[in-house]
Amino acid sequence: MAVKTPLKWAGSKARLMPELRKHLPEGKRLVEPFAGSCAVMMNTDYDEYLIADVNPDLVQVYKSMAYHTDALLSELDALFSAGALGDAESRAIFFYAVRDNFNLSGKSHGEESVAAAAQFIYLNRHCFNGLCRYNKRGFFNVPFGKYKKPYFPEKEILAFADKAKRATFITAHYSETLNLLRESGDVVYCDPPYLTESQNFTAYHERGFNHMDQGRLARRLRRLAEKGVPVVASNSDLPVVHNLYAGFDRVQVNAPRSVGAAAGSQKMASELIIKSPAISAVRLNQP
Ligand SMILES: C[S@@+](CC[C@H](N)C(=O)[O-])C[C@H]1O[C@@H](n2cnc3c(N)ncnc32)[C@H](O)[C@@H]1O
Repeated sequence: MAVKTPLKWAGSKARLMPELRKHLPEGKRLVEPFAGSCAVMMNTDYDEYLIADVNPDLVQVYKSMAYHTDALLSELDALFSAGALGDAESRAIFFYAVRDNFNLSGKSHGEESVAAAAQFIYLNRHCFNGLCRYNKRGFFNVPFGKYKKPYFPEKEILAFADKAKRATFITAHYSETLNLLRESGDVVYCDPPYLTESQNFTAYHERGFNHMDQGRLARRLRRLAEKGVPVVASNSDLPVVHNLYAGFDRVQVNAPRSVGAAAGSQKMASELIIKSPAISAVRLNQP
């Protein structure tokens, strides 16, 4: 059984971990530039982790869970308790009040705001399908999820805080994270927003991740692999992904995938685990 994460997350690797673990390279430190819910950290056993994501709201949650665990749990308990009072309409009104508060003032408290982190976790557990979407102004805009009994992830937060003793957390674009690689002992796992034919389902963060980004990431990983850095990445099983990662080992796996507006309903989709070993052996003259 995979260790569950405090956050629900579209694209979480939790259910794929038994397979993914077989392909992750040995090393001292796992560098994860697209950490999301941290399912990979929670389900592996490296000595150290560099955990990064471009979304500052997420990193704020990691840091609060790691460094202010008790304060966070009590803030969260207060939100969950207040959010469970009254009828469905009052619970929805409370949700939208928390969402407004998070968007209007929570973010301005900076990365170490326990209150804003608690709000984010509350929103994640009460919003439609646990989605994380923002409008153009950067406001979290997922509607109320109408759950009967939203799950309070206390056990998962405590487990996260324990694992976090081995981790450093940073808000960073993946290219900045990859600049921090050490000469030896580091291995890289990249789980970017997947390439899709429509690209509509990739807006985890207001900046998005488009085809150009996918190309840049693939080229960057190729250069690292050629230098001998063990690199593993995930992406969808599309011809364009095979092209981008030509020369890498590519393993097809079936994984549960949320689909579009019906993100609650999951179907199995073929995706790729992309690995570097072949690259370091055979140098490729790809662009
Ligand atoms: C597919 S999710 C990762 C899921 C994660 N492996 C898990 O198991 O939960 C992709 C993540 O990449 C982040 N992201 C998007 N663009 C990024 C960028 N340019 N640099 C770093 N992170 C980025 C998103 O915020 C999101 O959390």
